[in-house]
Amino acid sequence: MAEKTILITGANGQIGSVLAKRLAKIHGEDRIIKTDISQPEEEWGIFEFLNVIDTDSLVELIETYDIGEIYHLAAILSANGERNPRITWNVNLASYLNMLHIAVEHKIEKLFFPSTIAVFGPTTPRENTAQDVPLLPSTVYGMSKATGEMWNQYFYDQYGLDVRSIRYPGIIGYQSLPGGGTTDYAVEIFHAAIDHGVFDCYLNHDTRLPMIYMEDAINATIDIMQAPSEQVKLRYGYNISAVNFTPEEITAEIRRHYPGFKMNYTPDYREQIARSWPSSIDDSAAKNDWQWQPKYDLTQMVDDMFTNLTKSKSHV
Ligand code: SER
Repeated sequence: MAEKTILITGANGQIGSVLAKRLAKIHGEDRIIKTDISQPEEEWGIFEFLNVIDTDSLVELIETYDIGEIYHLAAILSANGERNPRITWNVNLASYLNMLHIAVEHKIEKLFFPSTIAVFGPTTPRENTAQDVPLLPSTVYGMSKATGEMWNQYFYDQYGLDVRSIRYPGIIGYQSLPGGGTTDYAVEIFHAAIDHGVFDCYLNHDTRLPMIYMEDAINATIDIMQAPSEQVKLRYGYNISAVNFTPEEITAEIRRHYPGFKMNYTPDYREQIARSWPSSIDDSAAKNDWQWQPKYDLTQMVDDMFTNLTKSKSHV
């Protein structure tokens, strides 16, 4: 029997554009169906327009391409989400509940749901935040993801849907830019260092957040999806951790490469969002259950970012 195909929603996004390529390498380009609401920047493989709130089109794609696995990455992130709470809820959660039902009806073999550190809130202990703690998120994005997590567990328990999920920290990569998140500064700062030598940071100098290098984030995604089902004991969403730093600390790292780099601080509403999130994460459940292990520490990440960004910027 031929291997089934994989559908990715939000395939143009920060994670999607990198994950799609990795999945194409593993399974072959013709097995990956990338979908999004706008034309992708790079043309390769199969792309279809899909707005995730359009359930009919989703079903049509699943049937047309005989989809067996879905990575549902389409979402509006934390900072942008606050500008339009209702649309954010519809895109992030209402569409996801439809997706879960459709996945059961169409016997989807595996479904991936990206969760986030935004599921935690101001009442969550901030340091070394454990897997099972009270979730009282303060953003619509966090509310939608925390609710999505509960639906994950429910669909696994009630219908046996093989759904798997990770709570990503802020993701830093040279391949793509994030859009509308609170952790975006940690990517923008690298571009600013190379292009302008100065960055105006919207967080305070000492606001510590958990982060992860793109390579590690993609590895975690592939690892949890390839793990034998019985190893994935938690279905709602696994804490994963790699590095954590403050704007001041990343500035010091950047100055190893650009000694004259200037950093200004003009905190805005995103500072409050960041303060409601953990500063570090306990990921022992992911380590124990499916042997999660990050490869990049802060210094390796910064060095790799500059190596790749200076290379790609010199080609444009
Ligand atoms: N990176 C996301 C954001 O900042 C958190 O998952 O919104």
